[in-house]
Amino acid sequence: MSSKRIVVTGASRGIGRAIVERLTPEHSVLATARSVEALSELSLKTGCKTYAFDLESSDYSGFRESIEQNLGGIDLLIHNAGLLINKPFIDLNHSEILRQYQVNVFSLFEMVQSFDSLLSRDAHIVALGSIGGMIGSVKFPGLSAYSSSKGALAVLVECLQEEYKERNWAFNCLALGAVQTEMLNEAFPGYKAPIQPSEMAEFICNFSLSSHKVLKGKVLPISLSNP
Ligand SMILES: NC(=O)c1ccc[n+]([C@@H]2O[C@H](COP(=O)([O-])OP(=O)(O)OC[C@H]3O[C@@H](n4cnc5c(N)ncnc54)[C@H](OP(=O)(O)O)[C@@H]3O)[C@@H](O)[C@H]2O)c1
Repeated sequence: MSSKRIVVTGASRGIGRAIVERLTPEHSVLATARSVEALSELSLKTGCKTYAFDLESSDYSGFRESIEQNLGGIDLLIHNAGLLINKPFIDLNHSEILRQYQVNVFSLFEMVQSFDSLLSRDAHIVALGSIGGMIGSVKFPGLSAYSSSKGALAVLVECLQEEYKERNWAFNCLALGAVQTEMLNEAFPGYKAPIQPSEMAEFICNFSLSSHKVLKGKVLPISLSNP
């Protein structure tokens, strides 16, 4: 397979970090998250390029410039970054609800609008959703903001596929079940997931690198368990 130019969000830990470790050095990867230290360490280990960025920012121009300088364009964007606010519905305040949606959903609006002209002819945009964001799945108390944001992300992916139907791009959403990461531990302390980040990263990378020619605008449940 020829080398691709890949942007991975949420690369400082968990599944995103494992994705970067799996994609390098074969592909050119720009890894992003807020944690400068974790990104530097990942760069030393894998040779990936990094750009420290907060997806809650109102200005994505620096992020775009970094992609232009480091990759020159995008063949694959994996929007893996996620925020999980675990709080009873009645206690959620306005800024928490906004943050939840800004990191998980609004950031995809911002990235596609900002990076539009950098996306290559066959670009694949993969968003990491959640099984809890699928209609009809089991829901859990405390996760109303998180799960509803992942539901919105899934529908946004379907909308983008329609919006860009004249282009050759593919937008897909992988709705993950439980993976053993810090996020899972924060939401379900003590719960043991059947999947490790490296195992899920292997699947996500294989899917992201090869499925865009046959799957477009899909929301796919990738779950052995929920949570
Ligand atoms: N683990 C699971 O069981 C599970 C299940 C279903 C879906 N998912 C989804 O899979 C994805 C990865 O999950 P994970 O478990 O690996 O999560 P994680 O360990 O909590 O990692 C989340 C990543 O997102 C980044 N991030 C958070 N807020 C950000 C912000 N404002 N700006 C930029 N980056 C930000 C974090 O980096 P910084 O803190 O350095 O910014 C971190 O690298 C998420 O979208 C999650 O919702 C996970």
